[in-house]
Amino acid sequence: MGIPGTNYFFLSMFSFLIIFHVQMLCTAKVPGLDRKDYVVYMGAIPKDDGNSQKEPATLYLEMLKSVYGSSEAAKQALKYSYGKSFRGFTATLSPTHVQKLKGMDGVVSVFESKKLNTLTTRSWDFVGLPASVQRNSLDYQSDIIIGLLDTGIWPESESFTDEGFGPVPSKWRGGCQTTPDFSACNKKLVGAKFYRSFTSIPPEGDFLSPRDGEGHGTHTSSTSTGNFVNNASLYGIAQGESRGGVPGARVAMYKVCWTDEGCGDADILAAFDDAIYDGVDIISVSLGTSFPLDYFEDSIAIGAFHAIQKGVLVSNSAGNSGPYRASVANYSPWSLTVAASTIDRKMDAELQLGNNISIGGIAINTYTMEKQWYPLVYGGDVANVSGGYTPDNSSGCLLGSLDEAKVKGKIVVCNFISTPPDYSVFVAGGAGAVIINDGFNDTAFPWLNPATIISTEQAKIVLSYINSTSSPIAKIQKTTTPKAPAPIVASFSSRGFNPITHDILKPDITAPGVDILASWSTNVSLTGYAEDTRFAIFNIISGTSMSCPHAAGAAGFVKSYHSDWSPAAIKSALLTTAFVMDETLPGNADVEFGYGAGQINPMMAVDPGLVYDAGVDDYINMLCSEGYNDTTLRLVTGDFSSCDLVTPSKNGARELNYPSIMVFTAPGKSFQANFPRSVTNVGVAKSTYKAIVSAPSGINVTVEPDTLSFSSLNQKLSYNVTIEGRSLNTDTLLSGALTWSYGNYTVRSPISVYALSL
Ligand SMILES: *[C@@H]1O[C@H](CO)[C@@H](O)[C@H](O)[C@H]1NC(C)=O
Ligand SMILES: *[C@@H]1O[C@H](CO)[C@@H](O)[C@H](O)[C@H]1NC(C)=O
Ligand SMILES: *[C@@H]1O[C@H](CO)[C@@H](O)[C@H](O)[C@H]1NC(C)=O
Ligand SMILES: *[C@@H]1O[C@H](CO)[C@@H](O)[C@H](O)[C@H]1NC(C)=O
Ligand SMILES: *[C@@H]1O[C@H](CO)[C@@H](O)[C@H](O)[C@H]1NC(C)=O
Ligand SMILES: *[C@@H]1O[C@H](CO)[C@@H](O)[C@H](O)[C@H]1NC(C)=O
Ligand SMILES: *[C@@H]1O[C@H](CO)[C@@H](O)[C@H](O)[C@H]1NC(C)=O
Ligand SMILES: *[C@@H]1O[C@H](CO)[C@@H](O)[C@H](O)[C@H]1NC(C)=O
Ligand SMILES: *[C@@H]1O[C@H](CO)[C@@H](O)[C@H](O)[C@H]1NC(C)=O
Ligand SMILES: *[C@@H]1O[C@H](CO)[C@@H](O)[C@H](O)[C@H]1NC(C)=O
Ligand SMILES: *[C@@H]1O[C@H](CO)[C@@H](O)[C@H](O)[C@H]1NC(C)=O
Repeated sequence: MGIPGTNYFFLSMFSFLIIFHVQMLCTAKVPGLDRKDYVVYMGAIPKDDGNSQKEPATLYLEMLKSVYGSSEAAKQALKYSYGKSFRGFTATLSPTHVQKLKGMDGVVSVFESKKLNTLTTRSWDFVGLPASVQRNSLDYQSDIIIGLLDTGIWPESESFTDEGFGPVPSKWRGGCQTTPDFSACNKKLVGAKFYRSFTSIPPEGDFLSPRDGEGHGTHTSSTSTGNFVNNASLYGIAQGESRGGVPGARVAMYKVCWTDEGCGDADILAAFDDAIYDGVDIISVSLGTSFPLDYFEDSIAIGAFHAIQKGVLVSNSAGNSGPYRASVANYSPWSLTVAASTIDRKMDAELQLGNNISIGGIAINTYTMEKQWYPLVYGGDVANVSGGYTPDNSSGCLLGSLDEAKVKGKIVVCNFISTPPDYSVFVAGGAGAVIINDGFNDTAFPWLNPATIISTEQAKIVLSYINSTSSPIAKIQKTTTPKAPAPIVASFSSRGFNPITHDILKPDITAPGVDILASWSTNVSLTGYAEDTRFAIFNIISGTSMSCPHAAGAAGFVKSYHSDWSPAAIKSALLTTAFVMDETLPGNADVEFGYGAGQINPMMAVDPGLVYDAGVDDYINMLCSEGYNDTTLRLVTGDFSSCDLVTPSKNGARELNYPSIMVFTAPGKSFQANFPRSVTNVGVAKSTYKAIVSAPSGINVTVEPDTLSFSSLNQKLSYNVTIEGRSLNTDTLLSGALTWSYGNYTVRSPISVYALSL
């Protein structure tokens, strides 16, 4: 499943390309000493603080003193003290220090603060949330605050002006860090802070302030929470009205990611510690790791756990490591894990050949080429031979490999081998690039010059045309946005199964994350290249980074109607009302492992009929069955939770009252799995729901009882699902659903059955 390893990365594919560029141009960094920054995580703030508890920072310094031997060294080593929402600290430690601290009272885990690499208009209409509805509900939304952990924010963006906004909600306890380049927050952008513990060196190409030096955080903030902005587009592409999921809500930015070093665990935890305390309602985190971590060695899972203790739902990116099995990131059962799918338009940058054949390429091409035609050459035919390059090198248009004299003013056809070829074509004076690659057929990127991506199949037509005439000519058209079948899960979107808790389906849900237009930092060019002179207030990018704030916006929308709902209830509402995906569309073949319950449907989620609620105790119960003991558990929860009291069953995570059903079974054996569930009536007081089962093929699903009669609101009723099947082959994935139906209400839970021996 190995997508090679950055630790943390922004889950936008655009950043992925930028990293590519940056690696190309930079030299390696000097490696660190054997002392590194570690997070010492100490769980919840103890609830029984009647006695004189020590100040957290004092306690942490004492612990550090005992490993370092001096107060002075301890003070120097301490980078962060957490203590608003949970306990712990980050300090510079040697491996010996780490061993000693791991054995100390109160320590849940000690893990390296990883050295980090950086990882619309139409989309809200597409998920059935029209502007008219959002406008109606601006008043409801004004108490909602969405917090984002990201690259910062561009405060001058129209998406965050506060015209028409009332006073900041009184519950808000957060602040605004002002600097010469970030002068103030406002009634829309209520908070902004930055976290940069790993170095005191000022950021390269970034701002030592909450200002966004990358564009990513401005994009995610406007997607979740941005104001209505008229006539938004990228150079006329994807024109329409831009808005977030809750345009009437407030936004708070916690800048934890930097253009030079990415995002550190230590900083992510500091931001969670603040955000939970500050009073945000929803947290959106478009970050992740590309390898599985235990829940309490994963800064995002830790932050999300303490967030739900305070009633705050955390929306997470599922990751961009797809389409491989079990590549999903951010799979903790208490958070919302969001895959990325398409909306019903594609970015078509057509390649016209001189023989009247047109090829539909994919790209965000903002350029209108002036001339009617340009000479067309294949990189492999124009190697810089005197410079020592072969046609092998120049077929990929590697930097320097092209003979400038033979490329100048022409459109160059290049294989995308290891580095994006547009830069070298640009440097060699080419007029445009036609890039051959099969890996990006569902996601469009901006390029330095006029460019489009075609498949190897399409390339055959182009190359044989080049061969067929002495003076081949072509033109690349500016991008248009024709309709396309949708939603389709993006190939990059990480897939299930859940690598840690196999019996909880992940991802939970999908949301638009392909070719999304939203606000941008006007200081950052479209491609990030210094040579790129295009600066815009909107940009079109893709990734689970983009789908995560869509889900956060949808959650905020639901919360604006139901301020008292728990994170689990909001999540349940989103899952059970999701659009059911068409599994026959190419790209959706991984069914629930690709899209979870389906695509967000915020309008329906406001009135789901029934919800599967769960509280901290339910997650504790699950953790007990996953092997946590009282000692570790109490630290995490901060109270006297005990696995003895909750009698965990051997049924494990299947007993968690989750809105989806996942059977993970061994191949070659018949199986029976039981899922107790309980639903809370949030629809009509007197109502009778009937179970409708669509069983996975060859599988028996029994629901007992199969009728639930409610007599009042908030009444809870329980039922059991039993799933039986015969021997399955390894890597078989089957899907079905259980739907509780009453009148217009359809409360749907996907059922997934997967066989694999581990
Ligand atoms: C809308 O935006 C486009 C592209 O930026 C611009 O050319 C046009 O003048 C704008 N129209 C209005 C009515 O502002
Ligand atoms: C291309 O199409 C135009 C108009 O349809 C026609 O006049 C021209 O001869 C065609 N050229 C080729 C090479 O087929
Ligand atoms: C070929 O490469 C050499 C070495 O990089 C360079 O000096 C030269 O200008 C290149 N020639 C052309 C025609 O691009
Ligand atoms: C160019 O291609 C040759 C093989 O044709 C290879 O040996 C050489 O390493 C390549 N050079 C570069 C710079 O990639
Ligand atoms: C992209 O390519 C893959 C394999 O090359 C194919 O299975 C898939 O259907 C293509 N997707 C689109 C949207 O064309
Ligand atoms: C182009 O022509 C050359 C020489 O005739 C031949 O080797 C090559 O296969 C042709 N390429 C294509 C794509 O037709
Ligand atoms: C970006 O911001 C920096 C600092 O304010 C400024 O020096 C630089 O000129 C800006 N660049 C662009 C392209 O706006
Ligand atoms: C609880 O689990 C921790 C970590 O796995 C272990 O170190 C400890 O000994 C366990 N405590 C008990 C009482 O079993
Ligand atoms: C579900 O099954 C359990 C165990 O078999 C049983 O104790 C419980 O009463 C059942 N609940 C319902 C609602 O049938
Ligand atoms: C499913 O139920 C039917 C009818 O009760 C039974 O004949 C069949 O063996 C069951 N199949 C499995 C896989 O348990
Ligand atoms: C179902 O929807 C219709 C039309 O949207 C509405 O009139 C009716 O009241 C709804 N029924 C229930 C039970 O919600």
